Amino acid sequence: VRVVTTHVLQEMKTRGEKIAMLTAYDYSMARILDESGIDVLLVGDSASNVMAGHVSTLPITLDQMIYHACGVVRGVNRALVVVDMPFGTYQGNSKEALASSIRIMKESAADAVKLEGGSEVIESVARIISAGIPVMGHLGLTPQSIHKFGTYAVRAKEEAEAMKLLKDAHLLEETGCFALVLEKIPATLAAQVANELKIPVIGIGAGGNVDGQVLVTHDMLGITKEFSPRFLRRYHNLFEEMQKAFQGYIADVKSKDFPNEKEQY
Ligand code: KIV
Ligand code: NA
Repeated sequence: VRVVTTHVLQEMKTRGEKIAMLTAYDYSMARILDESGIDVLLVGDSASNVMAGHVSTLPITLDQMIYHACGVVRGVNRALVVVDMPFGTYQGNSKEALASSIRIMKESAADAVKLEGGSEVIESVARIISAGIPVMGHLGLTPQSIHKFGTYAVRAKEEAEAMKLLKDAHLLEETGCFALVLEKIPATLAAQVANELKIPVIGIGAGGNVDGQVLVTHDMLGITKEFSPRFLRRYHNLFEEMQKAFQGYIADVKSKDFPNEKEQY
């Protein structure tokens, strides 16, 4: 079994093999994803929405991210595990950013961290990488900045924001990031970034001309049923499927069908 490293991802880009990435927040789901052959698992701060029910990614804490990451790492044999640095743990000063990333790496045994932003956080990125910790960048719609954006609409449609994104992408590569996520930006801009950068560029709502794709697992499984942006392809209606199973169990308990003779001691 091949184990995915940042080096392997770089080779995949070089030979044109697309990188498949999904989110995971717990041991059981990580095991299924890993045994399915996923290349990269992201312990996303989308856990704040999907696992905890918050309306944004801002409230989740470093301790909570580490708890999710520990479970995921225990479920994985093959995939590269990347952990999101939560809001407030890396923006202010690079020393705190380094301390936060060291906690993630030590306490969860994950393989890498991801953080949002370009020039604004570049000192933090540099300091974390200088400690030997691989960093994945994230540009475009960066959900930790929702209060600045005011909307989850497509980013970088205007020339100025597109030029800044392009500059930030190069800056992150030059600083030593091993990969970059681009979220919800025009496909032509994402393709240009993937073309100009040597490191793998993973898209979500960024079109097909990038080096890989990422989705939130609960979204692609149809567990979160209200969220349906254009870029989301659903592979299952798991909300309905699980509801059927739960309703079946409830009915069997009420009707005294469960447990039967063979299901007791
Ligand atoms: O937290 C998350 O799930 C993410 C992906 C959408 C890239 O950052
Ligand atoms: Na995230």
